Amino acid sequence: MKHLLSPLDFSVEELDELLELARDISKDPKKYSHVCDGKKLATLFYEPSTRTRLSFEAAMLNLGGSVLGFSSADSSSAAKGESVSDTIRVISCYADICAMRHPKEGAPMVAASKSGIPVINAGDGGHQHPTQTLTDLMTIRELTGSLDNFTVGLCGDLKFGRTVHSLINSLVRYKNVKFVLISPKELRVPDYIRDDVLSANNAEFEEVENLEDAMPKLDILYMTRVQRERFFSEDEYLRMKDFYILDKAKMELAKESMYVLHPLPRVNEISVEVDDDPRAAYFKQAQYGVYVRMALIMTLLGLN
Ligand code: NCD
Repeated sequence: MKHLLSPLDFSVEELDELLELARDISKDPKKYSHVCDGKKLATLFYEPSTRTRLSFEAAMLNLGGSVLGFSSADSSSAAKGESVSDTIRVISCYADICAMRHPKEGAPMVAASKSGIPVINAGDGGHQHPTQTLTDLMTIRELTGSLDNFTVGLCGDLKFGRTVHSLINSLVRYKNVKFVLISPKELRVPDYIRDDVLSANNAEFEEVENLEDAMPKLDILYMTRVQRERFFSEDEYLRMKDFYILDKAKMELAKESMYVLHPLPRVNEISVEVDDDPRAAYFKQAQYGVYVRMALIMTLLGLN
């Protein structure tokens, strides 16, 4: 049985197949509308979510399956003190596959070790978010035609942003991807990402604070939200929250061919005036998230 806990659980070749399937789905979703007839997806969300949970649910419904689950810890037996291990044993009797989001790093891995069904990590604390990475990879591949030979700027909260950690983990496996890590000093990538992922894979990367200076060299700009819920002090969050605001003036410094991605939700870090720019790809990215999750559910259930 295969789970998706980290973006490295699939080889580059397996990812290629998955992204190819997602592309085929995007061209004719109706062709897949009965692939999961009779199958059930459980969404176990111990942390807030809009896109990830609903895109998983939409994905399963699009495949002809059905969905069950909870959208907050308060409305599950976690509020009574039930462990993730016990919950997953029970959910294994009710569903064929599950997606779990949890504030504790590693919780989906603990669940997978006790689970009778495939477990998908839908975000664990400030650690990883592999299905957002699948979405990001599909977006880059569809928009630019390739996952090799480009410069990506990751901007904002690189310390707590799990989407950033997973994306870096994944992109170091492609050819000639250069990284510009744009953040205030306080929110730089964790040491393990710098040393064990970037340096260990001989990736070319620089850490900078200024977004304007970085703009002209980027092919992809990946903006992120300052992760308020992971800060120890509200004052510190308030000091950081508007550090970067991407607006029309900054977009003028960028290549005509650069794309802006954002996992969403956006707070202030991208001004709404950027939304009409043809290079703004974040809403398209959210749409790709459904196709890629359809492909993932099919793959983990062995229905591809
Ligand atoms: C991200 C997350 O949950 O980490 N959201 C998402 O799943 N699209 C990014 C964020 O919350 O900032």
